[in-house]
Amino acid sequence: MVSRRVMLITGGAGVALIGAAAFRLHSNLGPARKPWFEAGEGYDDPRLDALSYAVLAPSPHNLQPWLIRLDGDDGLTLFCDLERRLPETDPLDRQTVIGLGAFLELLRQAAAEMGYALETDAFPEGEAFPVLDKRPIASVRFVKTGERDKDPLFAALLKRRTARSPFDQSRPVSAETLNALDSVLRAEDGEFEWANDDANLEMLKEICRKAWRTEMTTPGPRHESASYTRIGEKQINAHPDGISLSGPVMEAMGAFGVLTQDAMDDPDSTAFAETIKFYEKNIDTAMAFGWLTTENNSRKDQLRSGAGWVRLQQAAAGMGLSMQPFSQALEEYPEMAEILEEIHDFAGLRAPARMQGLFRFGYGKDEPPAPRWPLETRLVNADA
Ligand SMILES: Cc1cc2nc3c(=O)[nH]c(=O)nc-3n(C[C@H](O)[C@H](O)[C@H](O)COP(=O)(O)O)c2cc1C
Repeated sequence: MVSRRVMLITGGAGVALIGAAAFRLHSNLGPARKPWFEAGEGYDDPRLDALSYAVLAPSPHNLQPWLIRLDGDDGLTLFCDLERRLPETDPLDRQTVIGLGAFLELLRQAAAEMGYALETDAFPEGEAFPVLDKRPIASVRFVKTGERDKDPLFAALLKRRTARSPFDQSRPVSAETLNALDSVLRAEDGEFEWANDDANLEMLKEICRKAWRTEMTTPGPRHESASYTRIGEKQINAHPDGISLSGPVMEAMGAFGVLTQDAMDDPDSTAFAETIKFYEKNIDTAMAFGWLTTENNSRKDQLRSGAGWVRLQQAAAGMGLSMQPFSQALEEYPEMAEILEEIHDFAGLRAPARMQGLFRFGYGKDEPPAPRWPLETRLVNADA
């Protein structure tokens, strides 16, 4: 059966042809997903073993902005790959730092699993504002503790996903579940608040819809997102990052030129209209919202909230709960300013307090792991 989605995009024409092609094209994303299956497989160096888990961290647009230099026998330095930032949607690099914080938290969990504690010095040469520069994000030393001070969340590291599909409307998310999420945050990770009642859900959905439309109708951010979209197996395996659209239908629409980066960037195209609807459906089916806030907005606050972010997502995965961030309302470009203020008013936050993450929760489909660059491509040598 050809889905209504294909029908809409093609306007009916060529449907039979695309439907047939969809069944012939089998997506093979094995290469792009390999890092998920090889994590911890044994590099003979605890730093590399732990790093092979850390590269599975979430990051904005899946850009994986980490670069790692190994120092001596027991150290490493984490840098931001300055080419892997999002100047339009993340002009102050706040979201990029959150992704790097999630990376460090998974590194810590994996090292603990192997009997190592991390001595981490964040921004050892100072915090860069308004944007990141070449200075390191963190220097880290692995210290053998002799005991395995394991973090229970490690068990959910490989199960963690960013939800991409609508949630089951018959399954509410209970207060008990949301409180259980909150319980995995440590004081330094930030504050988690949530809402699952109709009135608050409606208000938050409305803010997210407005923010999404603003993002898609502002040329810079729209173009940036379209340019980081990977359509079909060939593009995804060649560039295992960005927002990947895979599966037989996407594959066929890509092959027939219906779904392209240029079409997504064209407000008059059907691909653009479908992109709007696809995300709106996710907003509309939120069964609960949660938000993570910090009292200040220093680089260290952002980095620590990245740890909180990934811990919440791991805890959700462990409970079979799905979670998707909706970051648009939190972004710092001028067209979003009013909405950014509105969401802070909603949460009763006044600067310097900052909402670092806004998420929808619910019960959704099982998702496949998102593409990753292999660890080897993220290592730099000492004189780099
Ligand atoms: C700071 C930050 C902001 C993000 N914002 C969004 C968002 O607005 N919408 C969304 O669908 N995913 C968002 N994501 C999720 C990433 O797209 C996701 O982590 C990446 O594609 C890799 O997929 P994975 O989390 O399933 O491994 C965000 C992730 C981070 C770390």
